[in-house]
Amino acid sequence: MASGGLHVTPLGDALGAEVCGLDFSKPLTSHERDFLRRAWTDHLVIVARGAQELSADAQIDFCKTFGEIGGRARPVEARHEPAGAPADVMYVSNKRVGGRIIGSIPDGEMEFHIDQSYTERPARGTSLYAIEVPDEGGDTMFGNLYLAYESLPDDLRRAVEGRGALNVYGHGGYGIQSRSANDMGAATRKHVHPIVCTHPDSGRKTLFVNRLMTASVEGLPPDESDDLLFRLFDHQEQEAFRYTHKWRQSDLLLWDNRCTVHARTDFDPSKTRHLRRFSIQGHVMN
Ligand code: SIN
Repeated sequence: MASGGLHVTPLGDALGAEVCGLDFSKPLTSHERDFLRRAWTDHLVIVARGAQELSADAQIDFCKTFGEIGGRARPVEARHEPAGAPADVMYVSNKRVGGRIIGSIPDGEMEFHIDQSYTERPARGTSLYAIEVPDEGGDTMFGNLYLAYESLPDDLRRAVEGRGALNVYGHGGYGIQSRSANDMGAATRKHVHPIVCTHPDSGRKTLFVNRLMTASVEGLPPDESDDLLFRLFDHQEQEAFRYTHKWRQSDLLLWDNRCTVHARTDFDPSKTRHLRRFSIQGHVMN
């Protein structure tokens, strides 16, 4: 896709595209915004590489192309952003100032998840801007949930049709979770979404579950629920549906949270990884 100095280059077969030709030194034009919306709908994850020194305001302006900036996604007690940081910002960061980490989800691997899937209105999309990243590791992997749904074997498709699943905050930290009853009891925020949702822009169906936060399938005994969920997770996370983003400084990335899952690979905790994140307000998933 190309238009008036802008063009899009797919980053793989499954999802992801680089958008070239944007000028972030001034507010985006309506032509650029239309182009970005189209690229986002088509490719689910869009990246602008080397997006100059992008201010928080410029990142907010970019995000507003796709919807309203979301409220504080994380409970206040889970926030570490320094005083004076924009109200809706979250730093995904292990950076320390005065010995204190100034961001959230600082170190380590993260399992595949959908942001805020434990709420009634999960984020529509999420944007990350790389301020400082390690030379290796700390990649963000994305999975295409349209392809996951469309390629479901018949028995799985029948098993999920018309069913809901409970999504829970905090029952596994953000690392590799244990799906135990105690973890469920400690959870504070939870919401049931249909397992199969329809994306309002594309009209395509999406397999809306994720390993980190989806805890159980409504109406099934625990063993059956676990079996079904683990088959769904293994199916949706397969390599053929993925794009892995290897961060470079100044990368600006936005994913559609309604039709993708994402995860993070491990990295050396002695290296700084500092990204600025804004979420875009979502809606009830149907
Ligand atoms: C996130 O899940 O929002 C963070 C992903 C990452 O750190 O790569």
